[in-house]
Amino acid sequence: MDEALRIQQLRKQLETYAREYYIQDAPTVTDQEYDRLMHELEDLEAGHPELADPNSPTQRVIGAILPGFEKYTHARRMLSLGDIFSREELEEFVARVRKEFPGASFVAECKYDGLAMALHYEDGRFVRAVTRGDGLTGEVVTANVRTIRSVPMYIDAPGHVEVRGEVYMPKVSFERLNEVQTTLHLPLFANPRNAAAGSIRNLDTSVAASRNLEIFLYWYQNALEHGINTQAEALEAMHDMGFPVNMDFAICDTVDEIWAFIERIREKRSGLPYEIDGVVIKVNSLEQEEALGLNAKTPRYAIAYKYPAQEVQTRLDDIFLTIGRTG
Ligand code: IVH
Repeated sequence: MDEALRIQQLRKQLETYAREYYIQDAPTVTDQEYDRLMHELEDLEAGHPELADPNSPTQRVIGAILPGFEKYTHARRMLSLGDIFSREELEEFVARVRKEFPGASFVAECKYDGLAMALHYEDGRFVRAVTRGDGLTGEVVTANVRTIRSVPMYIDAPGHVEVRGEVYMPKVSFERLNEVQTTLHLPLFANPRNAAAGSIRNLDTSVAASRNLEIFLYWYQNALEHGINTQAEALEAMHDMGFPVNMDFAICDTVDEIWAFIERIREKRSGLPYEIDGVVIKVNSLEQEEALGLNAKTPRYAIAYKYPAQEVQTRLDDIFLTIGRTG
């Protein structure tokens, strides 16, 4: 077979195997077979430097020191949401939407505590990852996001695709990271969100690669262009394209149904492998979403219900008194 073709084939195949392994928890090949194909690809790429591709599975965890982060202006602003804390405020939100769209239905999802990220694809190829930044302009952190194993480098979708989600550090990875920091006498990270943000904004890509970051996608920026009409369909479509999507969401027609989801997630929350700080409620119809638009700076089509801050118990093991350099 033509070697260029074989390289393409191996890249796709290894990507599929990685997805089965990392996202679906259902590998279809043995580790040995995976390693064998990876070596075949490495050998072929070594003989064809003109076909080098930073998205190749062989390149994803190799460290590099970046000169800095470029800036990128978002096609549509990356917004934050208005917060609510009670059932009464939820009723008010639903009433405000229903005033304009009496038949509106809603999608309720977990609110992940990490950092917002936009992923861009051109003709099925991952081309760029951008942080929220100030909402208008973010930083291009493509090389660091490439180290997140569950982010697909190739998807089956034509044209331009932009999806948005939250990069996070699983609770166990956070605990392990702070154990290592303690051993090395380095400062501890305050919470998984800070640890994730620090990893993504590090110019040494081997740092992000070593931090076991994950991502959940919750927003299909140009869904309408791809014939998708509701938020629930957008979540399904992103899942089908191979993105990590939390499929534990609910389509709700009443405040009672939204509240039941909030209560169910409240119960589950401490047992989840990642931090959540609430539930996001979005209008399901994307047409209604566009029509509702924005308030001064937050959307009118979505809101965040926040759980009260979780109480944690800290055990103080010991205190070391030291004298600083200046006495
Ligand atoms: S939707 C305009 N869905 O919370 C709507 N955001 O304060 C865009 N977040 O900036 C956001 N989980 O970083 C959405 N399921 C979810 C989310 C979520 C976490 C974050 C996101 C956003 C912030 C809102």
